[in-house]
Amino acid sequence: MLVSAKEMLQKAKAGHYAVGQFNINNLEWTKAILLTAQENNSPVILGVSEGAGKYMCGYKTIVGMVNGMLEELNITVPVAIHLDHGSYDGCMKCIEAGFSSIMFDGSHYPIEENVAKTRELVAICAEKGMSLEAEVGAIGGEEDGVVGKGECADPNECKAIADLGVDMLAAGIGNIHGKYPENWAGLSFETLDAIQALTGDMPLVLHGGSGIPEDMIKKAIDLGVAKINVNTECQLAFAAATREYIEAGKDLQGKGFDPRKLLAPGVEAIKATVKEKMELFGSINKA
Ligand code: 13P
Repeated sequence: MLVSAKEMLQKAKAGHYAVGQFNINNLEWTKAILLTAQENNSPVILGVSEGAGKYMCGYKTIVGMVNGMLEELNITVPVAIHLDHGSYDGCMKCIEAGFSSIMFDGSHYPIEENVAKTRELVAICAEKGMSLEAEVGAIGGEEDGVVGKGECADPNECKAIADLGVDMLAAGIGNIHGKYPENWAGLSFETLDAIQALTGDMPLVLHGGSGIPEDMIKKAIDLGVAKINVNTECQLAFAAATREYIEAGKDLQGKGFDPRKLLAPGVEAIKATVKEKMELFGSINKA
């Protein structure tokens, strides 16, 4: 059964580990992530960006696919399905479609408007038993055409949004989506520390989890991060494994062109990446 992310993240924050949000792109991705979570007895959050939502034929299709898999694959660990960087309209659509969690990304609005829209969504989510993530300070890099500057959030603005009653808070701390550039300055632990001091028990969310060095991930968890989003690393692992299969000419041997064979190495690569992250985040056996 799908659950809201609230309880799993409160437990993670109290237990000093983080739950991974792994973004899904299709059936193979979803299956790989769910099986890995079950095999490792870990809670998990399936992230869906608005672009991926369109690609997978809409939020209702996704909810149907995920619910079907939970039943058919006997998945018993806590699973949340979460809209990633949602617009206000996108949030409304996901609420209707049966998502168990949403992120409203109001970071590009003036803080007053971000507060007003977030406040409205807090009330709706509370009524529906869904969890809500808010964002302060744009996350850098490009995601679905949304470009941010890798800024650091203002801790006072973080407190203002946290106090509205959201369940988790994403705050820019110099992190960016996608591959990190060679000259990346690293995470701003000073900013993270100041945010955590003002927001207390609020589970903090680290976006752009791909390619952050392990010691920085561990330090971020120590400083209150309880949810880490990973997308690009699974995509790179899938692409590399598929490339290797085709470059070795395996699609030309026997029935190697069958998509169930051709996509299998990519699925295994996603599983290995997700497992590695669950180990690093400390969520194994925390279901
Ligand atoms: P990466 O693609 O950098 O892992 O970021 C994922 C993310 O933050 C989704 O919101």
